Amino acid sequence: MLIFKLLRATSIEKSLRVHGENLATSRDLRKKRAEKLLRNLWGTVVPVPSRKMFTRRRVLVAVGLAVPPALVLSASAWYREKHRPSLPAHTLGDLTGKVVVATGGSSGIGKASVQKLRDLGTTVINGSRKDGSLDLADLNSVKEFTSKIVEGGRCDLVLACAAEIYTDQSQLSVQGHDATFATNHLGLQALLSGLTDELKPKRIVIVGSKLARQGLIDPHLIRSSNGKALNSRPPPFSPVKHYADTKLCNHLLSRSLSLRSPSSKVLTVSPGMVDTDLWRNFSSLYQLVTFPIRYVALRTPEDASLGVVYALAAEEIEDVPSGSFMVDGRVEEWTEKEKDEEIGEQLYGVCEEIINDAKNK
Ligand SMILES: NC(=O)c1ccc[n+]([C@@H]2O[C@H](COP(=O)([O-])OP(=O)(O)OC[C@H]3O[C@@H](n4cnc5c(N)ncnc54)[C@H](OP(=O)(O)O)[C@@H]3O)[C@@H](O)[C@H]2O)c1
Repeated sequence: MLIFKLLRATSIEKSLRVHGENLATSRDLRKKRAEKLLRNLWGTVVPVPSRKMFTRRRVLVAVGLAVPPALVLSASAWYREKHRPSLPAHTLGDLTGKVVVATGGSSGIGKASVQKLRDLGTTVINGSRKDGSLDLADLNSVKEFTSKIVEGGRCDLVLACAAEIYTDQSQLSVQGHDATFATNHLGLQALLSGLTDELKPKRIVIVGSKLARQGLIDPHLIRSSNGKALNSRPPPFSPVKHYADTKLCNHLLSRSLSLRSPSSKVLTVSPGMVDTDLWRNFSSLYQLVTFPIRYVALRTPEDASLGVVYALAAEEIEDVPSGSFMVDGRVEEWTEKEKDEEIGEQLYGVCEEIINDAKNK
């Protein structure tokens, strides 16, 4: 039916041309043709929008398309300004000659922090996969790295900043433990216990996350699954929740270490939400879609490093008790599950067993 109508409309248009209507311009001709076509198609008179109307519509569409993203980006920029770190007045100590052992110093928050620590006169030894010096997901590599530091005989400060969020639940570490857990926690515990036993660093800063409050762990399940499962959260698997579980492990470790190693001041720092490469294992589409918001709304690594460097270098930290949780230079309360000493001790013991099992294989 539609095809028939179109054919009829075209023949009318042809006859219009043949009979040579006196049309002043080609624009008039086009308008006339369009009107005839529309009338023939819909059986009623449909006004063809004038050029002015077309332009107005185009402007409206353009405004309609541009306004929502502009509003979102303005709100994001406002959010970033509102959440910029404002640290209490402080003095960074002279760290000339101090040795900092760092992880995660090759990118993001760690890189910005390491730069500031170098500016304060420290020598930073950064363990990284990039130069082959450290792979936290390989307990043999952690052992080798720790041994080298111990042989060097110096470690005044530790910055633990490495992390990974694997999106594939079945991804395992070199020794067959869950890859995110191995990188973010098992490797960290192996490194820190080695350093605190042998070199007793003055300060240890673990970069944690407020996401840990959503974390869930079951030390018995961690042991029985040999580090492959952290809890019995029902499917579907969420990489972010799983990462939160590993950050909860970090927070509990920080509390346990503060009790076990009284000569080291152990602090956990939450850096806020920061635009870094931490989402590198997520799909390109996810990264593309979230890029504008992340870029505009989140903290820069430089901003985030202020609180980290404060915890490592500020003189005011002398008054802060070991085992504290810090956000932008201020102590914040732990939640009940983060400061649960019993679970913390169980987790420490279970991870120690898993690490020792792997060593003995
Ligand atoms: N970004 C945020 O919004 C946010 C929020 C709260 C907390 N945090 C925490 O901040 C810390 C730094 O993260 P970021 O955002 O700066 O991320 P990032 O830019 O992705 O940096 C992660 C670092 O971890 C290192 N790393 C990853 N896997 C490793 C492995 N197997 N062995 C050794 N090093 C490894 C990487 O070094 P190589 O590739 O050189 O090995 C890299 O330098 C993490 O602890 C994260 O949990 C971040």
